[in-house]
Amino acid sequence: MTEQPKNPAPSKVLDRVLVLEMVRVTEAAAIGASRLIGRGDEKAADAAAVEAMRAAFNELEMDGTVVIGEGERDEAPMLYIGEKVGAAPGRGPKIDIALDPLEGTTITAKAGPNALAVLAVAEEGGLLNAPDVYMDKLAVGPGYPDGIIDLDKSPTENVKAVAAAKGVEPGDIIVCVLDRPRHANLIAELRALGCGISLIPDGDVAGVIAVTNDDTGIDMYMGSGGAPEGVLAAAALRCVGGQFKGRLLFRNDDERGRAYKWGITDLNKQYDLSELAKGDCIFAATGVTDGSLLDGVKVRKDGVMTTESVVMRASSGTVRWVKGEHRRGR
Ligand code: FBP
Repeated sequence: MTEQPKNPAPSKVLDRVLVLEMVRVTEAAAIGASRLIGRGDEKAADAAAVEAMRAAFNELEMDGTVVIGEGERDEAPMLYIGEKVGAAPGRGPKIDIALDPLEGTTITAKAGPNALAVLAVAEEGGLLNAPDVYMDKLAVGPGYPDGIIDLDKSPTENVKAVAAAKGVEPGDIIVCVLDRPRHANLIAELRALGCGISLIPDGDVAGVIAVTNDDTGIDMYMGSGGAPEGVLAAAALRCVGGQFKGRLLFRNDDERGRAYKWGITDLNKQYDLSELAKGDCIFAATGVTDGSLLDGVKVRKDGVMTTESVVMRASSGTVRWVKGEHRRGR
């Protein structure tokens, strides 16, 4: 069942060198946040990751624009939407960036699993400028027929379709869901089918990516979480395969206004992978705390910090696992 993702043409703007440079950026953010693991201070952990990620971006020869970031300009002092980063404004390659310097601020503060420093880059216009609202998400790993999942179908219908394609009973399907009261009905429906549910406290970027990794045992991802995290997860699936559907969810007019501001007019649209991350793209992540995707930052007895990262590119489909030893910190 290992169907390869359909590879887009390589981008001339996304230089191959940039692939490995992106790891330096997520490593810097993860190391920055790691000093705050288990210290009970979400804001301080996020601020450390943001500052380190921004400094690392500003060392790179590129003309970058943050399209998914820490918030709008009046809400976020650094890495806000629209902020220019990179050392070559006006002359380097023009790159759009989706980032989350610390995906899992609460996890980090509590030393829980699966916190990541994460980013995706694409050519200008390649990433959906998702407003900071919720997104309904549905994902399945590689190897299934196109269109097997659909947000217009019920969770039961989607589980049954995936089970039939996998040749198992619906009750054999394992679904990852964020542990939130708003998911009570979804969880009850999945329990009625006898599905296994992997309830995660936070961190749905790692949750979605888990469907692409047979070792996790997770077949599907379902439920709502941050829309920016949805775009980041979609960029990863563009590189390694799998299917993802996302629909923005709005709770009030202010949120709808944010969508219009970023050029989104069809508020009920079901987005497919290639509409969230178009053309060639690069996805990179470094573990902050240990998780299903990556090990977290550790400090050895000799003071050396170790990191584990993954970086992938859609056009080549290459996935690189990078172990780092950092002798002087950052
Ligand atoms: P933060 O790192 O911003 O805390 O996000 C963690 C997270 O769990 C995301 O992975 C997820 O998309 C979102 O929060 C879910 O939001 P909520 O906590 O409001 O349900």
